[in-house]
Amino acid sequence: MPLVVWKDEFSIGVPMFDAEHQDLLDIINALHDQAMAGAPSEQLAATCDRLMAHTVTHFDHEEARFEGYPRAEEHRRMHAKLKERVAAFRRDITGNNAVDGTKLITDWLAHHITGEDKTFGAWISGIH
Ligand SMILES: [Fe+2]
Ligand SMILES: [Fe+2]
Repeated sequence: MPLVVWKDEFSIGVPMFDAEHQDLLDIINALHDQAMAGAPSEQLAATCDRLMAHTVTHFDHEEARFEGYPRAEEHRRMHAKLKERVAAFRRDITGNNAVDGTKLITDWLAHHITGEDKTFGAWISGIH
């Protein structure tokens, strides 16, 4: 069973970013499944590397649209913090902490998407 299922309230009204958010949740689910199945650390690390790479790319895509956005600095700071949290999780990844770790990352990401990203999505939708 997936850890996190996409729901309408995750939508920020920008199709490209919604698709990238779904992609991040898919990778987190894959990581959670692997951890639950007792996958070796190297396999968890590889999936976590993929999560990190997609996270960085996605944050870069959002930040590329920040020009003129009043909350750009706050939003950028949150991205930096989230990247640091995923990196810390990646450094210490083992089968034992990956299950709880994926739950924590899901909470942070869901909070970011339904909060800061939604505000940003509304701003983008209002100016285009
Ligand atoms: Fe986002
Ligand atoms: Fe964001």
